[in-house]
Formats: sequence, structure tokens, C-alpha cells
Amino acid sequence: SILEMEVEQINKGKYEHYMQKEIHEQPESLTTTMRGRLIRGGSCKAKSVLLGGLKDHLKTIRRSRRIVFIGCGTSYNAALAARPILEELSGVPVTMEIASDLSDRQGPIYREDTAVFVSQSGETADTLHALEYALENGALCVGITNTVGSAIARTTHCGIHINAGCEIGVASTKAYTSQIVVMAMMALAIGGDTMSKQARREAIIDGLFYLPNKVREVLKLDQDMKDLAKLLIAEQSLLVFGRGYNYATALEGALKVKEVSLMHSEGILAGEMKHGPLALVDESLPIVVIATRDACFSKQQSVIQQLHARKGRLIVMCSQGDAASVCLGGSCRVIEVPQVEDCLQPVVNIVPLQLLAYHLTVLRGYNVDQPRNLAKSVTTQ
Ligand code: G6P
Repeated sequence: SILEMEVEQINKGKYEHYMQKEIHEQPESLTTTMRGRLIRGGSCKAKSVLLGGLKDHLKTIRRSRRIVFIGCGTSYNAALAARPILEELSGVPVTMEIASDLSDRQGPIYREDTAVFVSQSGETADTLHALEYALENGALCVGITNTVGSAIARTTHCGIHINAGCEIGVASTKAYTSQIVVMAMMALAIGGDTMSKQARREAIIDGLFYLPNKVREVLKLDQDMKDLAKLLIAEQSLLVFGRGYNYATALEGALKVKEVSLMHSEGILAGEMKHGPLALVDESLPIVVIATRDACFSKQQSVIQQLHARKGRLIVMCSQGDAASVCLGGSCRVIEVPQVEDCLQPVVNIVPLQLLAYHLTVLRGYNVDQPRNLAKSVTTQ
């Protein structure tokens, strides 16, 4: 009806699509996610985080035998992005499960486990089913959702709301970045006050404070990503290589591209390049390589060199000022992004790929908010 159309236009504000609006509101949604949860300390007080929904369970989580993340789609990818910092700060082994796969295998879940269920909607049937299974097995069940009162929020023992605000586009964007931030805060909370990691924790807390502004900065790549989309509009396929903190960025970037622009895309762990994907490389297949500064940087530089040697058509995402050091001995297109604390870099790095997926879709003439065959919340198994 005309009324419905008008309401929709009001909701979208100055934007043409919900996905576009949700990508661009990430500086604000991230701020809301962190509101009241970061304590910057005073002259004598240490910087710390406060997660009300978790604080009574932190001791149990610290004592658990492992932390297992369970989710589907983008929510799984967000957990994958947070896994390294959780391992580092908690000292507890962290494993990953795609919800349907855990159910298919009836995989081991024990009383001594902390099972963390990540779901934007809080209603995904696969995730809910895995939650019931983990409850039966006696694990401590933690929910990370964007929907107060959702099935997963109600059924878990405790949890954290990501407070990203209502997400309408079927492809998850602002929920992804808020989920990563919540899980980084969770890592800080579980890490507690061990002296040996105090400096690292404080650097991450400072990084969280600056993060919304860094995301605001990276959003300025909008036109560049539109130009890149124009170049790629008729391609059959796009590969995305990442590793370490940005393995998840590769998977999530490829997921955005395939689900909305209907172009085949695969996220590839760069460390696996020689074990198969290298066979695909030629002069025409476009490849995004994520090579921002972190402990894996020199390994990514050598991946780029090997792709150059096979005449790969490269689009390299690097830290600002690094264009010359990533494109040695070959030609490539560069996406320069602001550098943040390594474990928060996935929040910045996904933004250009969200923009690319958005523009590719609009240019190809597909429905960006409701992609063919997909649903926002999959409530059947
Ligand atoms: C569907 C949506 C995805 C989402 C996934 C998990 O496939 O299309 O965008 O990532 O479900 O949803 P959840 O609500 O559990 O995060």
C-alpha cells in the first residue's frame, strides 16, 4: 500500500536501501553496542569492561574446559573473527561449530564446556536446536543476540545483547561488526585482571573507544568501492584471501558478495593457497587479498608475490600508507584502510567489502534487501 511505502521511506531516511543504511550507520551502532560497558579507569583505576549479563558467570567460564562458539552464516563468521582474541586473553581453548553440523554429528558437548550461541535474530532454528542439545548435555549456555526476548536470549543461562538496533536487510552488516565487538569485550571480561596481559587489554580498550571513528573513516571508501564494483560487474567469480584475524573477513566478505550480488565468491584461508586454490589463479579471475598490518603481514606479502608470479588479478586491502609495500613487483588495485588494534581490524576491514557487495548488487540490478531464495531469519531446519 501507499502507506506502507511511505513508512518504509521514512525508515530508510536518506538511503535507498536498508542494507546501505545499515552499512553507513555502523559508527553509531558500534557506539550503542559499547555504551556503558567500557570503563576507562581513573588515575589509579585500571581500564576494564563491564558486561552485566555475564558478570555472575565469569568464574565458571574461566574454569571451563573449553569455550565452543555455535552459530550460522554471518554470526558464525563473527565468532570466527573473535576466536583468536578469546584464546589469547582467556587461556581457555576455543572451538567453532556451525550449528547444523554440530546437530548432524551429535558432536561432543560436556558439562565442563561453555557453549556460546551467536545469533542476530535469536530465532534461527539450527542454532536453537544446537542450544537445546547443549542444555541437555549440561554445558553453560551463553547467548549473544540482537533481539531482546528472542528464543535464544530466553533459553540460554546468561548472555550479552549486542544492541545494534533493528536490522532489516537480509544480509547482516551492522550486526556482524557489533557481534565482533561484543565478543572482544567478552574476551576482555574473561581475561579479567591478570597482570601479564594488562597492557594488551588496555590497548584493546583504547582501540574500542576509537573504533567508531575509524569505521566512519573507512566508510569514505564508498565511491571507490562503487568504482571497483563497476569493474567487476560482469565477472563470474571473486576470491577473497585472508588469514589470522582476517580469515573471518575473507569468509564474510565472500558471503556478502554471493548472497546479495548473486556472484560466485569464496573466502579462502591464505595459508591453504598452495593446497588447491592456486590452481584457479590466472590473468582474469579477480582476487581480493587482505594484507593489513598484523603478525601475519609478511606471510601475506609472500602470498601476494606468489599470486603476482602467476599473473593474478589482485585487489589488495592494506593499511594506510602500505600500498608500495604490498604491490612490490606487480600491478594491483589497492584498498587502503585505517589501522586499528589487530584483533579489531576485522571490524574495519569488512566495511569496504560490504560496500562492494552492495554496489555490485545495485549495479547488477538485483534486490539488495531481499536476495533471491533467502530469508532474514531461518526458522525451519
Ligand atoms: C540467515 C540470514 C543471514 C544470517 C543467518 C544466521 O541465513 O540470511 O544473514 O547470518 O541466517 O542468522 P542469525 O539471526 O542466527 O544470526
